[in-house]
Amino acid sequence: MKQLAKEIIPWLHEARQMILENLNRPMNVETKSAANDLVTSVDKNVQQFLISRLLEKFPEDKILGEEEGMNQLADFSGRVWVIDPIDGTLNFVLQKENFCIMLALYIDGKSQLGFIFDVMKNELYWGGATIGVFCNENPLPKPKDQTLDSGLMGTNAFLYGKNKYHAKDIGNATMGVRMIGCAGLEMIAILKGTELGYLSNLQPWDYAPGCALLDAFAIPYGSMDGEKLDLSRRQPFLAAQPTAYQEIQEKFFK
Ligand code: IPD
Ligand code: CA
Ligand code: CA
Repeated sequence: MKQLAKEIIPWLHEARQMILENLNRPMNVETKSAANDLVTSVDKNVQQFLISRLLEKFPEDKILGEEEGMNQLADFSGRVWVIDPIDGTLNFVLQKENFCIMLALYIDGKSQLGFIFDVMKNELYWGGATIGVFCNENPLPKPKDQTLDSGLMGTNAFLYGKNKYHAKDIGNATMGVRMIGCAGLEMIAILKGTELGYLSNLQPWDYAPGCALLDAFAIPYGSMDGEKLDLSRRQPFLAAQPTAYQEIQEKFFK
């Protein structure tokens, strides 16, 4: 798996360069499901670039990607690459920071590899259950387990505002909530131990790369609708340090 990851990493650096070159150029921005759900020409080009590289090298593999007719897959058996070309597109357009490139490999529905590239910090978090987690070349230490009242919770503004899935109640049981607007960066925060958990409503490409890395540290995650996480649809999503995760289940979902 490490060898495979090392074949993929140069492509992610190329994708990062594509984004940096276009950051301050005029780009085509379109809305999708809502005024704050954007896609740019850069998202589309990065996805197309990664698909071409992957299929050139692994023509038999399947692809699930957020943009341009790639966002549905009927069969998740075998090798499936999951692509979010720019996670945090709204931040990309409005802030020009706080976004990332994400890629995951699943085999028969099980996580194998995850990549989350914080483009502006030039930090690539990558790894998987069998190889551990790295930030660029350096192994990342496993963050310490935490109780719910001992740290910060990443969350989604809409869920928090409406207290959906007890998002506000859960946030209020922590030392504070943070809302970055980029699922990948919230996952990085859990991996580094700067947030104890993250709660949102996510598509598979928003969570799959992060979950592959959480699996390396045995950090639990799941859906809050009582269903199993399912790579074919959006679901309410929670990940947290083991003790905090258990506290959340016991206090809010029993
Ligand atoms: C979005 C971000 C955001 C999350 C949304 C996602 P996108 O991804 O990860 O943090 O709250 O649900 O859709 O659309 O910018 O790739
Ligand atoms: Ca995206
Ligand atoms: Ca996303």
